[in-house]
Amino acid sequence: MDKILVTGGLGFIGSHTVVELQRENYEVVIIDNLSNSSIDNLDRIISITGKTPIFEQLDLKDKSKVQDFFKRHQDIKGVIHFAASKAVGESVEKPLMYYENNINTLVYVMQELQKLKHSNFIFSSSCTVYGQADVMPITENAPVKMAESPYGNTKQIGEEIIQDVCHVNKNFNAIALRYFNPVGSHESSKIGELPLGVPQNLVPFITQTAIGIREQLSVFGDDYPTPDGTCIRDYIHVVDLAKAHVVALQRLLSNKNKANYETFNLGTGTGSSVLEVIQSFERVSGKKLNYKITDRRAGDITSAYADTKKANTDLGWKAQLTLDDAMRSAWQWEQNIRKED
Ligand code: WQD
Repeated sequence: MDKILVTGGLGFIGSHTVVELQRENYEVVIIDNLSNSSIDNLDRIISITGKTPIFEQLDLKDKSKVQDFFKRHQDIKGVIHFAASKAVGESVEKPLMYYENNINTLVYVMQELQKLKHSNFIFSSSCTVYGQADVMPITENAPVKMAESPYGNTKQIGEEIIQDVCHVNKNFNAIALRYFNPVGSHESSKIGELPLGVPQNLVPFITQTAIGIREQLSVFGDDYPTPDGTCIRDYIHVVDLAKAHVVALQRLLSNKNKANYETFNLGTGTGSSVLEVIQSFERVSGKKLNYKITDRRAGDITSAYADTKKANTDLGWKAQLTLDDAMRSAWQWEQNIRKED
């Protein structure tokens, strides 16, 4: 049973990926510093799969601790690296925290991984690297633009670091997965998105408004050059996203990758506007959402949705779940987690 390290494995996407890895009978080791996740997620993962991952609470910014970890786990066959700070707005306020937490940790993990004779590395990247792409849908060949935030820049720098290592070390095999907008939660409603504080992202703000935690959703602008004036994004169900990580890992473990560095866009291929997301929520929940149109949010791009051909053909993965599935699961998760309060 191959042992796989998942850094940030108690986080939103990480926990869903651990569940899918365990379903595929991988032995999972989780490293998480719990800075943006809850230790409760460990029991929730176990309650879903019946399998207990190895868990180490460890801050990857501590190089000696990372070295010690890899000394104790020399049989790791692959790494899926989620651990990073990911709030765009916060990254503008605290750039050095983001560069330290997102870059140093990546370097320390890769330094240990490349000591192994064969390394398989899956990197959590983001469509943010494209900025406002000129052509929709967005392919992997779209130019990587000047990042709109330090967060986005850490993803661009991360990809460049990995490419440089793969260029000089042919035994280092990596795939960068560029997520569009991850939403939704596991069908069990035991794991899901649990933003700390006021949600920055649309979907948790919608569900928290519907359940009464937030007074009203602000729709950040309806004067964009889109059919209904609100921004368009590609909302991908987190379970589809998690499954893509397992497929990408298996591609490396079975040496099916065509190069030792590859990138894949992970989206549904369909763009949805903010108002369409609200309509989807109202449809699946039966609730009328309290929202108002406000000014645009600085830094928002008008439109981003994925060209999924490369992921569908080369990776052999395609999103199966719909926006309604995602909104239904997000709402079920919100109701479930509030029962625990
Ligand atoms: C989506 C749309 C907002 C909140 C960000 C990061 C990206 C990735 C996903 C990490 C936009 C609108 C939102 C609200 C709103 N994160 N909105 N009212 O900005 O596309 O992407 O999260 O990898 O890197 O950039 O996602 O959910 O914040 O916004 O009207 O209260 O919803 O204007 O059009 P975004 P989002």
